[in-house]
Amino acid sequence: MSAVISKFTTKVILALDYSNKNQALELINNLDPAIYRLKIGKKMFSLFGKSLVVQIKNLGFDIFLDLKFHDIPNTVFGAVSAAADLGVWMISIHISGGSKMLQAAKLALNPFKKDTPLLIGITVLTSFTEQDLREVGINSSITNQVLMLSRLAKQNGLDGVVCPGEESMNIKEKLGFGFKIVAPAIRLIEDPAYDQKKVITPKLAKKFNIDYIIVGRTVTFSKNPLNKLKKITSFL
Ligand code: C5P
Repeated sequence: MSAVISKFTTKVILALDYSNKNQALELINNLDPAIYRLKIGKKMFSLFGKSLVVQIKNLGFDIFLDLKFHDIPNTVFGAVSAAADLGVWMISIHISGGSKMLQAAKLALNPFKKDTPLLIGITVLTSFTEQDLREVGINSSITNQVLMLSRLAKQNGLDGVVCPGEESMNIKEKLGFGFKIVAPAIRLIEDPAYDQKKVITPKLAKKFNIDYIIVGRTVTFSKNPLNKLKKITSFL
C-alpha cells in the first residue's frame, strides 16, 4: 500500500498529538509524504475522528492509526476491520490481549488483500520502569517481558512490535531482521524526557536497526517544529 520511497533505513513517523487541527495541518503542509509518515493517536482521533484520517490520507501520507486496541477478540475484530477500512498503513494492538485477540485482529485483515495495513503489537510502554511492571503483577525484567510479548506477536502473524528502542537488537537477533521494530520516545540529548523513561537518540535508533521511530513532543513542543524534525532526520 505504501507509496513512500525513502532513502532512510530508519524512517520517521511523526506523532500528531495536537489539540488544534490547524496547528497540525500547518506542520503537515510543509512535509514531504515521501519521507514522513504520520501517526494519529487517541487524542486527535477522539477530537476529529475519521474525517481527519481521510483528510491527511488525501494529502498523500501513510497513516499509523495508533489506537492500541485491547479488548475481547470479537470487539478487536470489529475495531481492526473498521480501522483498516479507513485505508491506514499501520494499526496497533496490545499484545497482552493474548493470542485469541491477536488472531481475531489478523482475521479481520483477511479481506483487505494488498491494502492490508501493517499490524503492530505494543509490548511494554516506554513510560514503564520495572517497578511499574511489578505494580501490575509482572515479575520479569523489561527485556524479558518485551521479548516474550514479541515472540507471541510473531507467532500470531503480526508484522512487528512497538518497544523501547534499546530492546530492538535483542528482538531482531532472536526473531529475525524482517520483524519490524517501531520505537517511540526519541529525544535529542538536550530534550526533556517528559513522562517517558526509555528514551533514545535518533543516532542510536539507526545504530539499533530500528525500522520506524515515532517522534512526538520533541518536535510538537518545539518553537520551530519543522527545524527540529529536520535535525532529527539528519541523524538517520
Ligand atoms: O515523543 P513522545 O514521547 O511525545 O512520543 C509519544 C508518542 O508515542 C505518543 O503519541 C504515544 O502515544 C506514542 N507511543 C508511546 N509508546 C508506545 C506506543 C506509542 O509513547 N508504546
